[in-house]
Amino acid sequence: MSSRPFHILSVVGARPNFMKVAPIQAALASLPSRFRTTLVHTGQHYDPAMSRVFFDELAIPRPDIDLNVGSGSHAQQTAAIMSAFEPVVAGARPDLVLVVGDVNSTLACSLVAVKLGIPVAHVEAGLRSFDDTMPEEINRRLTDQISALLFTTEPAAEHNLLREGLAADRIHFVGNVMIDTLLHHRERARSTGALERLGLAPDAYGLLTLHRPSNVDDEAVFDGLVRGLAEIARDVPLVFPVHPRTRPALDRSPAARALADNGRLILLDPLGYLDFLALMERARVVLTDSGGIQEETTVLGVPCLTLRENTERPITLELGTNTLVGTDPHRLVTAWRRVRDDPPAPNVPPLWDGRAAERVAAVLDAYSGGAG
Ligand code: UD1
Repeated sequence: MSSRPFHILSVVGARPNFMKVAPIQAALASLPSRFRTTLVHTGQHYDPAMSRVFFDELAIPRPDIDLNVGSGSHAQQTAAIMSAFEPVVAGARPDLVLVVGDVNSTLACSLVAVKLGIPVAHVEAGLRSFDDTMPEEINRRLTDQISALLFTTEPAAEHNLLREGLAADRIHFVGNVMIDTLLHHRERARSTGALERLGLAPDAYGLLTLHRPSNVDDEAVFDGLVRGLAEIARDVPLVFPVHPRTRPALDRSPAARALADNGRLILLDPLGYLDFLALMERARVVLTDSGGIQEETTVLGVPCLTLRENTERPITLELGTNTLVGTDPHRLVTAWRRVRDDPPAPNVPPLWDGRAAERVAAVLDAYSGGAG
């Protein structure tokens, strides 16, 4: 066994990556004799509200290297990340590259690493929506195929990986690192005063997020969603922090603008982690097409209506407060009335206990012993 610290190069790129990497970086940093870390930000997300605020609030060390790739088509963005990442990995020669989640940065960096002979660890492996029209599904499946270590959040993920022929000894059920971050910051989020600043009373508003291309780039789907949301907004105002991708859809929807004009849809710029967590915890309902928010509401025990036809996170349906409602306005309104009148009972999934990153570090430590 080598006495040299095991060098792990971790990658972040887009907003949902930051809260996953934060506890892993902290767990690795707490074992300096075992690990050396390098953090690379691809720059897939670059607006301060989509990136920097998370580093500040979650005390993530500044990235050692920023690739500044920015936006583009899938091919352009993936290719730009690969071209920029390759010389970094070739120069640093880390012992392992660690990627999280399912964004384009996840796949692009994994592919570069394995082709340079560097093993990859994928955190949040094995999730499957079985919907290949989602770019994330392609990113997840391909990243898993080439990863040496597969860290999973829920039992279904392991079944998916085994079915795809991945060896059982690569798979480690560690729990949910994103929930580590939530539990760690929950108290602090309560003291930010987000509700007071927005003039909101606890349990008297809904919180909405929308950014999936299938929902916001398709005018007919978006219009249908707005019709359903308008019905719900008669009962509770809807707070809507708007993802940059969603802006054009809002601008071309007179119905959404009318809702905003009469104060039933409260449009905000993207929020930081703490404000969003504070709003989520005290919402009467959360309406979303995000993946991570289905998990966060599960732990918070807040009813979640997922505006998609499928989810890669089935445990949130089995144990959590999540309901899949798709995009049909009637189904959406019916589901809202059901959770309004009879909220689902919450239940926290196994190992979503705030200690997942510690388990990741323990597995990496054992792996480094074997690899060293
Ligand atoms: C990406 C991820 C998605 C994740 C989401 C979270 C992929 C394929 N998609 O989607 O899985 O759920 O992040 O937010 O990786 N833009 C800005 N400022 C930014 C970043 C983006 O204005 O800082 C705008 C640009 O117009 C860009 C568009 O948003 O073209 C989309 O950005 P992109 O990174 O391509 O995908 P997201 O929709 O953000």
